[in-house]
Amino acid sequence: MVFNLVVDGINVEFGSSRVLENVEIALRSGEVLAIIGPNGSGKTTLLKCISKAITPKSGEIIVYGRPIGEYSNSEYSKRVSAMLPQWPSGFSMKSYEIVLMGCRNQTKGIWWEGDRELQIVSTALEILNAIDLYDKDFETLSSGEQRKVLLAKSLAQRTGIILLDEPVAYLDMKHKLEVMTVLRALADMGKTILVTLHEIDLALKYCDKVVILSHGRVVAAGKPKQVITSELVSKVYGVEVAVKWDEETDYPLILPKKGQAVKGELSCLI
Ligand SMILES: Nc1ncnc2c1ncn2[C@@H]1O[C@H](COP(=O)(O)OP(=O)(O)O)[C@@H](O)[C@H]1O
Ligand SMILES: [Mg+2]
Repeated sequence: MVFNLVVDGINVEFGSSRVLENVEIALRSGEVLAIIGPNGSGKTTLLKCISKAITPKSGEIIVYGRPIGEYSNSEYSKRVSAMLPQWPSGFSMKSYEIVLMGCRNQTKGIWWEGDRELQIVSTALEILNAIDLYDKDFETLSSGEQRKVLLAKSLAQRTGIILLDEPVAYLDMKHKLEVMTVLRALADMGKTILVTLHEIDLALKYCDKVVILSHGRVVAAGKPKQVITSELVSKVYGVEVAVKWDEETDYPLILPKKGQAVKGELSCLI
């Protein structure tokens, strides 16, 4: 089967430090891929490369059979949507206006919102259980609520490939599960979804594939249940854990085996 997204050995350097090294990914329609790794391992940088915000020093990214450099920005926005964490602050917009910006890629030249666009905006907020945010000022929302609005904006873009950087960060347990359920359902309808996660349990439960990044390198990749072992998580995160599957709830458990020692002289801070 044809891959919609291929990341072919990309390398990224910032100054003298190499942030991504020979990273490879291949994703089909219908798949949700989780990118997992400690802070600073290169997850956001990888998403920025695929969204065309950063050009890798070497290697290639192919979307629907074409190198991404061949797409105009407008063409690309019809193929790939990206939710990256930074959102410019300081100007006042209603939530629905932000989600509406996601629709704009499909309505070139139209600067007023039609019924169809407003319907898409409402649906995107509704499926994320966030319709109550519709008329609220984005700046006044909690971090979790802002995440949902930005996620709705990505979904309203209606692209085949969706990139989401920590879409469930700041969300409470119910909302995390809701978002993952929506992503799973969209993939089952044919979308290709790439998501960075800190929640290893969600990757195990909802994703088809996982790529583990450590210091900019792929240290493991494959089916979550095969890849995410106690040994691997302990090694990559430097925390001894047990990975288990609870049969009763059919849900994975990541259990730290012992606490962390405090480094440094704590009494200086008392
Ligand atoms: N624009 C930049 N200039 C210099 N270093 C950067 C830049 N962006 C990211 N980095 C560095 O690259 C590494 C990977 O960052 P990032 O991709 O944000 O990691 P993650 O998302 O996995 O936490 C970090 O060490 C970070 O400090
Ligand atoms: Mg990040």
